[in-house]
Amino acid sequence: MDYTYAPGRNHLFVPGPVNIPEQVLRAMNRNNEDYRSPAIPALTKTLLEDVKKIFKTISGTPFLIPTTGTGAWESALTNTLSPGDRIVSFVIGQFSLLWVDQQKRLGFDVDVVESDWGRAADLDVLESKIAADTAHTIKAICIVHNETATGVTNNLASVRKILDEYQHPALFLVDGVSSICALDFRMDEWGVDVALTGSQKALSLPTGLGIVCASPKAIAASESAKSVRVFFDWKDYLKFYKMGTYWPYTPSIQLLYGLKAALDLIFEEGLDNVIARHTRLGTATRLAVEAWGLKNCTQKEEWFSDTVTAVVVPSYIDSSEVVRRGWKRYNLSLGLGLNKVAGKVFRIGHLGNLNDVPATAGVSCRGRDGAEGCGLPCEAGKWSGCCLCIPAEQHPNDSFKDLNPHVYVVSGERVTQEPSIVWRAQGRIHEGSRPQGCDEGTKGHHRLVDVTVAVSGSNLNR
Ligand SMILES: Cc1ncc(COP(=O)(O)O)c(C=O)c1O
Repeated sequence: MDYTYAPGRNHLFVPGPVNIPEQVLRAMNRNNEDYRSPAIPALTKTLLEDVKKIFKTISGTPFLIPTTGTGAWESALTNTLSPGDRIVSFVIGQFSLLWVDQQKRLGFDVDVVESDWGRAADLDVLESKIAADTAHTIKAICIVHNETATGVTNNLASVRKILDEYQHPALFLVDGVSSICALDFRMDEWGVDVALTGSQKALSLPTGLGIVCASPKAIAASESAKSVRVFFDWKDYLKFYKMGTYWPYTPSIQLLYGLKAALDLIFEEGLDNVIARHTRLGTATRLAVEAWGLKNCTQKEEWFSDTVTAVVVPSYIDSSEVVRRGWKRYNLSLGLGLNKVAGKVFRIGHLGNLNDVPATAGVSCRGRDGAEGCGLPCEAGKWSGCCLCIPAEQHPNDSFKDLNPHVYVVSGERVTQEPSIVWRAQGRIHEGSRPQGCDEGTKGHHRLVDVTVAVSGSNLNR
């Protein structure tokens, strides 16, 4: 895509990296410090205690590793397993596919369970494998909690139930990169042995920290695991934890202060309120997608993700074009479809430090861009665009709980529901020419839409 300068703020709605809040940006705007001074170990001690809360663990041991989600995967695998170990792993989209690829390249014997993209991990197959494995040859189950490529959330409690039912000792390794700190995640309750995330997702930090948490069982496994590891060796960390200096190598001072600020914001809001906010924004986004007449890539409601929605476009549209136009016209960043769903879906990220105003504006822009830019068909008199609204009276300052998002459907010049005090929506339909990439069949009944969202009187994106 050709780059051309676009004025105004970039509306970042990819499912990671996400927007960084001002408080975190300010906290990171500082000089380097000597990480062997008394200040950094004291800060690190607090951070290690605090990150346990986002995993919902008391007994886990956290590691803050200068890496990304991919490095966190490697840390989880190489510290707990030996080459040739049999592991069961699920492929349901691009990120679980990449993790499986890493598992194979590290020399494990990977028993891959595949699902169609848009479906969750097949736990019936898992159950039959676990039931048959009376010799306990399966050493680990690896699962991505939230598949960022398709917007599918797997049910981790059910995985634990299966392992418990057959008293199977396999380690339970979970990629929580696009779930932890946004979706309900309970390390101790679900008996997760290694959980991991990356700083650029729901924590709303820059990329660069892999945050891994290991159960006592995983720490015990690391003592005999034979995989080669150097940079990711937990032993080095544990040695420095014991000494009270914490760092086997140089940490990013700025990221540590950023993490402190990010966690402070999360705890100030309350982790459960953060999760409830993601539920609300996820629901709202899905309502908007439905109102646009588009389908969610996720095949069943129980798998819907509250951090990312993969929107399926009609077959005559290339979803990359939606993303391209969003970027070009509105300085709006949406996620591309990846691998098997390339060209078929675009992704809306709704995770991290995000409130209803940017989320609403962003989604409305997408409605507009989807319709205007890419020729989504809409019949006269029916919906033509929509915006998401949280009525002002339901929006107390002190709590985000129990708020129901509404989709206000805009049709012609008429708003079918009274707009709320904070939000106003206007619709304008005008005829347009057939967009490139649309087949002849869409000509004629095709109408273009112009949706404007005004927030407290000022228009966003025209
Ligand atoms: C679920 C999931 N796992 C792992 C990764 C890889 O993380 P990274 O790109 O930080 O290495 C991603 C990246 O988006 C992801 O979404």
